[in-house]
Amino acid sequence: MSARRTSIHGEWSSRFAFILAATGSAVGLGNIWRFPYVTGESGGGAFVLVYLLCVALIGIPVMMAEILLGRRGRQSPLNTMRTLAQEEGRSPAWQYVGWLGMAAGFMILSFYSVVAGWTLAYVVRTATGVFEGATAEGVQSIFTDFIANPEGLLAWHTIFMVMTIIVVSRGVKSGLEQAVRFLMPALFVLLIAMVGYAMNTGQFQQAVEYLFKPDFSRLDAEVVLNAMGQAFFSLSLGMGAIMIYGSYLSHTASITRTAVVVAGMDTLVAILAGLAIFPLVFEYGLEPAGGPGLIFMTLPIAFGQMPGGALFGALFFLLLVFAAWTSAISLLEPAVTWLVENRGMNRVKAAAWSGLAAWVFGILSLLSLNLWSDDRYKLFGMPFIDLVDWLTANVMLPIGGLLIAIFAAWMMSREASRAELGLADGLGFGLWRFLVRYVTPFAILLIFLNKIGVL
Ligand code: PFF
Repeated sequence: MSARRTSIHGEWSSRFAFILAATGSAVGLGNIWRFPYVTGESGGGAFVLVYLLCVALIGIPVMMAEILLGRRGRQSPLNTMRTLAQEEGRSPAWQYVGWLGMAAGFMILSFYSVVAGWTLAYVVRTATGVFEGATAEGVQSIFTDFIANPEGLLAWHTIFMVMTIIVVSRGVKSGLEQAVRFLMPALFVLLIAMVGYAMNTGQFQQAVEYLFKPDFSRLDAEVVLNAMGQAFFSLSLGMGAIMIYGSYLSHTASITRTAVVVAGMDTLVAILAGLAIFPLVFEYGLEPAGGPGLIFMTLPIAFGQMPGGALFGALFFLLLVFAAWTSAISLLEPAVTWLVENRGMNRVKAAAWSGLAAWVFGILSLLSLNLWSDDRYKLFGMPFIDLVDWLTANVMLPIGGLLIAIFAAWMMSREASRAELGLADGLGFGLWRFLVRYVTPFAILLIFLNKIGVL
C-alpha cells in the first residue's frame, strides 16, 4: 500500500521540524536579495500585488501538491513521479518532471552559491568596519570593485559550495532542524530591527507607497512573469525541493496548515526586507532598479552609520548566509537522493559530485560579472548570471509547477489525493482541488501566453 511507504532517507522528527526545514528552504537570498531588486526593476507596487496574488493562487496550491506527491511517493522527486504515474496508470513520461527539477536545482545552485559568496564576503567586510562612515557612493564603489575581481569571488563561491556539500552529505535532517530553529527567529528579529532603523532614518513613507500603492501603468507581461517567477523561486517550488522534504514528512501532519504557514512566513520576510531596504534607497537617492547589487549597496550605508553597525551588520549578513545555506541544501537534495537511489552512490559521494558540477557551472556566472561582462558575451542581451536566473525562475520553475499541479489535480485519483491531504471531503479539500485543477494551471498558462504575445 502506498500509504505505508517509508523513505529510505529517513523522516522528520515532527511536523514542526518539517515546517522549519521547508521554511529554511523557502527563506533565503530569494527574499532578502532577490525580492527587493526584482521589485525595483519591475517598478514597485503593481509587481508586489501580482506577486502576492501568485503566492496565494499558484504558490500555496502547488506547495500542497508537492508535499502531497512527495509524501505519497517517499523517494527522490524523479522516482516519486515515476512510481505515482505507474500507480495511477499514467505515462512514465511524468518522470521528466523530476529531470526538469534536477536541472533547475543545479542551475539555480550554480549562481545562488556565487551570490551567497558575496554575502559571506560582506560578513567580513562589515565586521572589519570597512563601511564605517562610508557615503552612498563609497559603498557603491566597494561593491563594484568587489565583483570586478574574479579570484575573490571564486574563493567565496568555493567556500559556500563546500559548506553546502558538507551539510547535504551528512543528511539534511541532522543539524538542519537545530540550525533553523534558532537562526530563523534571529534573522526575523534583525530584519525587524532594520525596518525600525529605516523607519527612523529613511524615507519610510515613500517606500511604503512604492511597495503597496500599485501603479498599474508599470504592469506589462514581463512584470507579471517576473512576479510569478519570484513566487516560485521564493517558495522553492517547481523543482522538487519541497517534494523531497515532503517525502520525509509523517503521515499524521496536516499539509494544508503547513503550506499556509510556510508561505506566510516566506512572504512576511520578503515584505520586511523590502521595508528595510527601500527607505534607504530613497533616502540616499539610489536607483530602485539598481539590479542584483541592491542590498549590498544600501544596507552597508546604514551599517556604516548606526552605532554598533559593524557588529550588527556582520550579524545580519551572517544570518543571511545561514538562510542561504538552508536553501542551498534543498537545491541539491533532489539530485542527491536520486543518485543514492538509482546509482547506488553513498550520500557523501553523491553530494560531492553534484555540488562539484554546480560549482563548475557557477564559474560561468561568476565570470559574467567581470572578465566576460561586455556585450560580446551576452546571450539574449543578458549577462550569463542574469540569463540563468531568468530562465530558471521565470521559465523552468513555473513549467515544473504547472506539471506538478496538473499531475496532482488531473492524474491522481480524487480519492488518493484526498486521503493523502488528510482532509475530509469538505470545503477545504474542495477549495484546494478547485484551485489546483482550474485556477493554478490556467493562471500559469495565461502568464506564459501573455508574455510570448499570444494574448
Ligand atoms: N527559496 C529560496 C530562496 O528564496 O532563496 C531559493 C530556492 C531554494 C529556490 C530551493 C528553489 C528551490 F527549490
